Amino acid sequence: MFYHDGGKLQYPVKVEKPNPVFARALQQAIGGIQGEIRVCLQYLFQAWGSRGPTKYRDMLLETGTEEIAHIEMLCTAVALNLEGAPTEQDEAAKDPMIAAVMGGMEFQHVLTTAMAAMPIDSSGVPFNCSHVYASGNGAADMLANAMAESTGRMLACQLYKMTDDPGMKDMLKFMIARDIMHQNQWLAAWEDMGGRSNHPIPKKNR
Ligand SMILES: [Fe+2]
Repeated sequence: MFYHDGGKLQYPVKVEKPNPVFARALQQAIGGIQGEIRVCLQYLFQAWGSRGPTKYRDMLLETGTEEIAHIEMLCTAVALNLEGAPTEQDEAAKDPMIAAVMGGMEFQHVLTTAMAAMPIDSSGVPFNCSHVYASGNGAADMLANAMAESTGRMLACQLYKMTDDPGMKDMLKFMIARDIMHQNQWLAAWEDMGGRSNHPIPKKNR
């Protein structure tokens, strides 16, 4: 299933000036409830449970797979932002552990992973699969997917405003564009399933 192409990411990820606090913020886009693990698992589980026309299942499978690439990009961004941390933190604090905490970085990056991304949000909470929605109703799922992409885009826009790093802005611009594309795609699929004329969901009581 996985194609290894010389280590290429879906889109290049560069960091000019590492920032471990921004690495922590990026964790929200990996393991947060608006993040990429959420949409990845949501699309894949919807696909694996799909009994409808294969065109919808194919779209879900392909988009879920693309979301794996977004997790990979963000994990790379977290690792690059942790380069040199925590010794570059607040010079006033000589103990690197104390500096890390005072600087606001994620403590687990120091304690648990030797400076790598984790499936956690920006508060250190492990990803919660309760936010993966796969209802068994295609139209309901498409609306849930448009909502997931909307909150994902809101988060990416917030992260874009938080950073001055040109590499991070470039990566987030790409991800924001994909969020727009996916919103349009899910709403087009919902319309293809009947849109407003298919309401209420489900159409039949049993
Ligand atoms: Fe994504």
